[in-house]
Amino acid sequence: MTLLRAGDRLRTALVTGACSGIGHAIARRLGSLGYDLALVSHRREELDAAASAIAAEHGVRTIALPFDLARAEAASELVGRLSEVGFEIDILVNNAGVFFFGEAADADPEAARRMLELHVVTPSLLVTHLAPRMRERRAGHVLIVSSISAFQDFPGISYYGASKKYLLGFSRAVRSELGVYGVGVTCLAPGPVATALYDAKGVPVELARRLGVMASPDDVAERGLEAMFRGDEVCVPGIGWRAATLASRALPRAAIDAFRRRAPWLGAPGRPKR
Ligand SMILES: NC(=O)c1ccc[n+]([C@@H]2O[C@H](COP(=O)([O-])OP(=O)(O)OC[C@H]3O[C@@H](n4cnc5c(N)ncnc54)[C@H](OP(=O)(O)O)[C@@H]3O)[C@@H](O)[C@H]2O)c1
Repeated sequence: MTLLRAGDRLRTALVTGACSGIGHAIARRLGSLGYDLALVSHRREELDAAASAIAAEHGVRTIALPFDLARAEAASELVGRLSEVGFEIDILVNNAGVFFFGEAADADPEAARRMLELHVVTPSLLVTHLAPRMRERRAGHVLIVSSISAFQDFPGISYYGASKKYLLGFSRAVRSELGVYGVGVTCLAPGPVATALYDAKGVPVELARRLGVMASPDDVAERGLEAMFRGDEVCVPGIGWRAATLASRALPRAAIDAFRRRAPWLGAPGRPKR
């Protein structure tokens, strides 16, 4: 499948979480296809560097919009900035995310609230703000980055998994709503990817990538964009992870609970980790 180059109907993309990992790879690939880019993430310097490098390499217009997206008002503020700079978005990539291990009863309430704002509230409201214009123009794509953890309810990542499950459900429902107007909605649900998401959490990311346990962000970005342009509903990159996803859906709750009792990194059941 060839990726669609920028043209009259699709010219500009917004990518959240664009300064590193999967979002950065998606932004670079869209830049190589001629799309003008509005790039959003939290760290200003890294984002400026990413935007300048893509503009220099591919000759597209890029704008860096440093925003904390884990706030209730983030989506409306971001949309306000986009109209100030005259960017009309044809492709929305809702990618920004964070991760933490730990049970809900042990979670830092502020970190948990921020994850919900970032994974649930902001991406949903960006669709609400930006999709009406796509619907009017009968053109556009939304790519929503979820995770394979959306397909089963695993203990130890209750906030992460449930928020990614919301994104999968939201994506499917909105796809039906917008599909009749020629606007595509695709959910990208990768398995483990070698990115900074796991930084400082004791995960040997580089080793896992070399062993093939983790995918490279470039591969995942390519698969996700292919799926988006093809109009797929859900994309789980890698045949092994597609099989694992199917198998995990069939797991009985008792097996998951038994696994949790033997998972040392989650702490002893019945005893708080902290
Ligand atoms: N890595 C995996 O194994 C994996 C698997 C499945 C799904 N995913 C999903 O893929 C997406 C991208 O993650 P990644 O793996 O590429 O990790 P990453 O390299 O850590 O990228 C995360 C991006 O999100 C941005 N972000 C985080 N908090 C933000 C905030 N409050 N406001 C604005 N931007 C914020 C980060 O920007 P700053 O650095 O500036 O904060 C960064 O650009 C996430 O939604 C993640 O859940 C990842």
